[in-house]
Amino acid sequence: MLKTRFTQLVGCTVPIQQAPIGGCASPRLAAAVAEAGGLGMVSMTGDPPDLITVKLDQARRTSAGAIGAHFFLLMVDAASAHDCVAAAAERARVVDFFYADPDPTLVEVAHAGGALVSWQVCSEEEARAAADAGCDFIIAQGIEAGGHGRGRIGLLALLDAVLSAVEVPVLAAGGIGSGRALAAVLAAGADGVRIGTRFVAAEEAEAHPRYVEALIAAQPTDTVRGDTFALDYPGAPHRALRSSVAAAEAFQGDVVGEFVDPTSGDRVPVRRFQKLTVTRHVTGAIEAMPHWAGESVGGVTRVQPAAEIVHELTGEAEQLLRRWGHEGGPSARS
Ligand SMILES: Cc1cc2nc3c(=O)[nH]c(=O)nc-3n(C[C@H](O)[C@H](O)[C@H](O)COP(=O)(O)O)c2cc1C
Repeated sequence: MLKTRFTQLVGCTVPIQQAPIGGCASPRLAAAVAEAGGLGMVSMTGDPPDLITVKLDQARRTSAGAIGAHFFLLMVDAASAHDCVAAAAERARVVDFFYADPDPTLVEVAHAGGALVSWQVCSEEEARAAADAGCDFIIAQGIEAGGHGRGRIGLLALLDAVLSAVEVPVLAAGGIGSGRALAAVLAAGADGVRIGTRFVAAEEAEAHPRYVEALIAAQPTDTVRGDTFALDYPGAPHRALRSSVAAAEAFQGDVVGEFVDPTSGDRVPVRRFQKLTVTRHVTGAIEAMPHWAGESVGGVTRVQPAAEIVHELTGEAEQLLRRWGHEGGPSARS
């Protein structure tokens, strides 16, 4: 019933893209989401081409479903970007970009490797630029979203503008944590959703247990948008739990903990106000590290398998859409 132009294009059975939630978006999480019928995303930011290949092979060994690769361009070295994207495109169904102006040359490289291309955008202008650059679908991210965002308006106003501006399928992102919210944006004409915060609490995610506990305890009003965790990337706004912002501000000292690289075993200090995703590979003053969280955080009530999150959201959305008299099938714009 929830078939849309997005599900048809990407080959999913449900209109859900798991957001690339930094280090939490492991091959294991992406494969679990893909197995449940969604588009599972692996975060590749900073990885060299050979590691990109390894991560995608790992995910594809577990699921033959739709697996995508994500590049957070703020942190990608321009000199190696083409090689990294080419490596990803050979194995990923979708190559996804965020946090830079849409770049037709990157889209071309991904297409040449056989992948579809998506770009997360935060304004109508950026959506037009992404469509003009050749992207196959677009994600409209409102300021309700967890993690980083370049936008200044809420999801509904943005979705409204983007749906009118472009012809390609559009996913809605930011603050969607329930089946009701999923149903609402589908009814508004979106072709699907991109969901981040809910998947941080998935069993298969790499999130630190204390970060997950904080999300479970939080309400939407406990999140705040600001630029506290901006040590290396000043002027990059983000939404996180207010408690982590307060703890970082109150912390005495420059180093809040340590990251232990799970592959090499290398230990790297985590600095106060550093941008990172708090995975289980981090130790120290966890509470003073960024607890990225969207206004969807009210939907995080327990640790669940990713498939259960997908089924919960889609089951409730289907019921509501039926109750509201929607026939289902491809979204209204198609
Ligand atoms: C922990 C976390 C890490 C994130 N990291 C990224 C990232 O690396 N790249 C990206 O495009 N978006 C990232 N996002 C934002 C998502 O793409 C998406 O816009 C957002 O999660 C949607 O809002 P929601 O969290 O309310 O579902 C992140 C979000 C969270 C919660």
